[in-house]
Amino acid sequence: MQTIRGFRDILPEHISLWQRVEQEAFSLFESFGFKEIRIPVLEKTDLFARSIGETTDIVEKEMYTFSDRKGDLVTLRPEATASICRSYIQHKMYATDPVRKFYMTGPMFRRERPQKGRYRQFYQIDAEVFGIESAYIDSELIFLLNELFKRLGLTGLTAHINSLGCPECRPAFQRALLDFLGKRKQVLCENCTRRIQKNPLRILDCKVDSCQKALEGAPATIDHLCQACDDHFTIVRTTLERQGVAFMVDKSLVRGLDYYTRTAWEIKTTTLGAQGAVAGGGRYDGLVEELGGPATPAIGFAIGFDRLVEVMEQLKKNGQDPPLDLFIVALGNAAMAKAYHWSCDLNLAGFRTGMDSRGKSMKSLMKRADKLNASHVLIAGENELKENQLILRNMDTKDQTMIAIDNLVPTLMTLLTK
Ligand code: HAM
Repeated sequence: MQTIRGFRDILPEHISLWQRVEQEAFSLFESFGFKEIRIPVLEKTDLFARSIGETTDIVEKEMYTFSDRKGDLVTLRPEATASICRSYIQHKMYATDPVRKFYMTGPMFRRERPQKGRYRQFYQIDAEVFGIESAYIDSELIFLLNELFKRLGLTGLTAHINSLGCPECRPAFQRALLDFLGKRKQVLCENCTRRIQKNPLRILDCKVDSCQKALEGAPATIDHLCQACDDHFTIVRTTLERQGVAFMVDKSLVRGLDYYTRTAWEIKTTTLGAQGAVAGGGRYDGLVEELGGPATPAIGFAIGFDRLVEVMEQLKKNGQDPPLDLFIVALGNAAMAKAYHWSCDLNLAGFRTGMDSRGKSMKSLMKRADKLNASHVLIAGENELKENQLILRNMDTKDQTMIAIDNLVPTLMTLLTK
């Protein structure tokens, strides 16, 4: 007997990475006020059709839907957002406190063509926030993803962000898009031709080569935003910039689910071939109301757990250990004794910190910092200790600054998370 195509076992020898990701993710989410929620694997089909959208690939072609013994149509969940909204409404969570932050992990099911990074049963780590309209929560979620990936030592990821507008600015955009598509009808695939009237935004997400070509120069939502959406997106971008989160604005990003409004994003990698999105998310301010609850702004993301683990395995194979944030070069016994405590405190504060207590020379310690891929080095020699100061060296730019030993952790928090 063999597993069904697209389904797989995750064997004990691979599980430690999965556990490490869960631990890092959940502890980060908890420290930002998220609570775990567990939801069923099976829901009424209608829930997904109404939330994800009747004309999306997921609902049209990929759901595992069947009628149960009484003839009710049920579906193995293809994602978690719809179910979490259902739960929020069903348990009237909005009545006691409309502001809620949830996270969950578990299997999702989509009948896609299996390939590397794409399975029919795959796992997501999902986070959702209800009841907050402010753009700061959009930045917080992208910041959280960035922080998690940093803690996991992932490199080479890029955040692509876009704004999809709201019911206020969509009609003008749709008119511009329909106008553009009208002139290219003949070259669009069958699916897109069918979707023109029903759901033209979906066409922008079509993966067929001829459609992609025809869509070059298509209007972008971001060029048709109303003032409120524009202001919202400006806050998201400037906040991320201030927090030092690298991102690029990607006008062509539309996401594959219909419920999105305003900010939408994907975190992409180049190490998994075609399956480049390691996480995706966005705002869905209309969904709770659409499903029968009170008007409630909401936003969230899902990480593709299988893909995340594959990127981590890839990095390991390439011999790249997760980089260190800091390496402490401690010269002499007095410095070493102090460095030990700094290193513990810094690790607890979330910096990946290393040191070498074998009494090596400055030159060989700097070599070691390089080998460990440290982004910064803290140098503590006799002179520095006397002056109650340390040298902080940026290993990329080679810039050096003196920093006070007192309040070392808060100082580094400010300097290195900028
Ligand atoms: P999604 O973009 O459909 O969004 O999925 C999120 C992530 O799940 C993808 O970026 C990818 O890493 C992973 N994924 C999707 N399909 C597969 C597959 N067949 N095999 C392996 N990994 C896959 C959502 O699901 C939304 N619910 C995210 C969200 C939450 N938006 C707001 N809140």
